[in-house]
Formats: sequence, C-alpha cells, structure tokens
Amino acid sequence: MSVMVLIGAQWGDEGKGKATDLYGERVNWVVRYQGGNNAGHTVVLPDGQKFALHLIPSGILTPGVSNVIGNGVVIDPGVLLTELGGLDERNVDTSRLFISADAHLIMPYHVAIDKVSERYLGKAKIGTTGRGIGPAYQDKVARLGVRVQDLLDPSILAQKVEAALDIKNQILVKIYNRKGLDAGRIVDTVLEQAEAFKHRISDTRLELGEAVRRGEHILLEGSQGTLLDVDHGTYPYVTSSNPTAGGAAVGSGLGPTSITSVLGILKAYTTRVGSGPFPTELEDQWGEYLRKTGGEIGVTTGRLRRCGWFDAVIARYATRVNGITDYFLTKLDVLSSLETVPICVAYDVDGQRHDEMPLTQTGFHHATPIYEEMPGWFEDISHCRSFSELPANAQAYVNRVEELSQARVSAIGVGPGRDQTIVVHDVLAG
Ligand code: IMP
Repeated sequence: MSVMVLIGAQWGDEGKGKATDLYGERVNWVVRYQGGNNAGHTVVLPDGQKFALHLIPSGILTPGVSNVIGNGVVIDPGVLLTELGGLDERNVDTSRLFISADAHLIMPYHVAIDKVSERYLGKAKIGTTGRGIGPAYQDKVARLGVRVQDLLDPSILAQKVEAALDIKNQILVKIYNRKGLDAGRIVDTVLEQAEAFKHRISDTRLELGEAVRRGEHILLEGSQGTLLDVDHGTYPYVTSSNPTAGGAAVGSGLGPTSITSVLGILKAYTTRVGSGPFPTELEDQWGEYLRKTGGEIGVTTGRLRRCGWFDAVIARYATRVNGITDYFLTKLDVLSSLETVPICVAYDVDGQRHDEMPLTQTGFHHATPIYEEMPGWFEDISHCRSFSELPANAQAYVNRVEELSQARVSAIGVGPGRDQTIVVHDVLAG
C-alpha cells in the first residue's frame, strides 16, 4: 500500500498535472483534497491530445482509476457539469468519480463577491482567479456554507441559501452597490445541475479508508502550491485553503499516518500568478525569455505568469513544511541554451544574509536574491530518458538543486509530453 501526496513546492503551476498523470497510471485512486476550479492542470496524452482539468482529478484520464473530489474541495456545480460534459465528448469514462458529501459548494454569490471585492481593493488586490474560492471558504469557516449533501435535501438547501443571502445581499447592495441575488432562482438552478451528478455523492472518507485497508495505492493531488497556502504561504497573497501536505489529511479524511510519501513538484525556475512578493522575479528580457520558452500562461485565467530564476530558499522551506521525501523537477528543458543559469541560494534583507525564509512578511518583501551562477548547456535535452544522457552541466544543475532543496530529485521533466520524463528513483516503490 502507498499513499502519496503530490504538492506544488512553489507558487503553483509547477507541472503537477504531468506528474499526476505519470504516477496516476500505477495507483488505484486519485484524490483532490483542497482548492477548486482556481486550479488548472494541462495533461498531454501520447496521441498529442491536450486536456485542461480544473476540478476533476487528472486520474480520470487513466482507465480503471477511481477519482475523488474530497471534503476539502470547494465545488462550483456549473463548472463540474461543463467539465464532465467535455470529458464525455472525448469518450473519457467518468463513471468512477466520487464526490464527498461534505465538500462545500461555490454559489453564484461567492463568485460575485470575489470579483467585486477585488475591484474594491484596487492596488491592494490579491489577484484572485475570480472563481469564488475565497468567499466559499470564508462561508465554510463562518458556518454559513452550503455543502454537497444539501443537494439531497431541497428544503435544507433552500434554508441555507436564504440564510446566506440575507447577509450576502446586504454586502452586495450596501457595500458594493450591486444588485442582490434571488435565493429561489439559485436553488432551482443548483438542484437542476445536481441531477447530473447526484449519484456520485458518497462517503469518500469511508471509501478511501477501506481502500487503505485493502492495501490499494492512493495519490492525493494538491493544487496551487506551498507558498499559496493560507498558513504557510506569502499571506495575504495566498489562496484560502491548505495545499501543503497537512491539508491532504484534513481534506481527504485519511489520517496522517496513512501517508507514505510526499512528492514535491518543483519547476526548474520559478513562476507566480497574481499579486505578492517574489524575490527572484525578472522584470527584464530574461523574464520574458522564460515566459516565452516555458509557455507561462495561466491554464485557468489566461494570465501571463511572472517568471524568475530558481529559488532554493523557497524549495528548502517547502521540503520542511511538507515533509517532502522526493522532488519531481519539471521543465528543465526550458533552461537549455543559456550561458549560465543563476540559482538563488539565500536572500539579502536590509544588508543581512538569510539562508532561510525571513521571519516577517516585510522581510520577505525586502528580500533580494543572492545568486550562484551555474554553467549552462546548449544541447536539446527533450529526448533524454536517463540521467546519464543529460549534458554534464544539466546534471550539475540538478545535483545542486537537490543539495540546496534537501530532498532527492526522483524525476525530471524534459518536455511537455507524457513520455518526456527521466525517472531517477521510483517513488511508489519506496
Ligand atoms: P484564489 O485561489 O482564486 O483565491 O486566488 C488567490 C491567489 O492564488 C492568487 O494570487 C491566484 O493567482 C493564486 N492561485 C490560485 N490558484 C492558482 C493556481 O492553480 N496556480 C497558480 N496560482 C494560483
């Protein structure tokens, strides 16, 4: 039995879809445990078909694998329907998708408030995806949330939506000068949408617990990334859930002792979408170079990603807070053809060297990178399938990343294709 958690080690968009797809072939279950349709995973199949998934676990593309949307996820029912429809059109079997009865629903007022509150914040905006994620999690904690199980009881659903709207409409009308929303219409729409997926609602905690008892293999698929975690990230420029490994237990209902490995997904350079500090960000031609070469455009929002060199301080931090046992280093091919490749090994904060994350957010805002220059390589590495085939300088780069990040690099991505991966250690085999 193995239960592997897959975590983004930076600010999201590290290439988790490719990693899930790689290991997804050998597991029985793939589970989403937090976030919602703010995520976007692009998976390229051997026949070149591209799939963008926002809510449904990437394991859906592998025949025979069961997929779970766990209790920690927030679900927009309209998005769920669209995604299921898209998969049906491509003849992907979705019969083994289970949805936790305890997951929370993103309602139209969450989306409305997300968008309007960002506009209201002006320069101080978070740069959210505008999908209602934060407001849905706020309601969960405020105990005003609507859960998937409420779809099974229309009168409870109506009561909950009405109670929430009593407050939300005041906020929309009185604070943001918008129109209020109609509870009856929302309830009718959601109930109609639910007809198409009601049969998938289940006690996913029990299903997963039983799977562990049977010795099956489970992949817990994190979205976003460590630095976007509401507790461990660059608060307040974070998402509203816990993408880090601890969140995997909470958001799936599996106890922490069932987790057997934590795989961090680490891009060979760094990107970020939305606002917030980013010490190695490049606002010159090199940032543009990484963006173009790496195709750094958001899958969910189409926004251009901010780009910068590899930051080992962040990677070390991710290793620590997630208990990362192994790394999948993605997009190494993007760094080919550079004379030298800088790695940030520490920060300078107001004249003081910091090898680890500064104590305060202000410190992180003032951090300037201290770089080490690694010699580059000019060979095309996209065809390499073993570590020894990589040019010596690319090997040295990977070794340095591994040393500074304090966890072994077990897989290396050398291109977007499913087969463009070098497997150094088999994580599932231990
Ligand atoms: P929210 O998750 O939509 O509330 O957005 C909060 C912050 O997280 C913003 O900076 C978003 O750009 C960022 N974010 C949310 N989801 C992702 C993702 O999947 N990849 C990268 N950034 C994300």
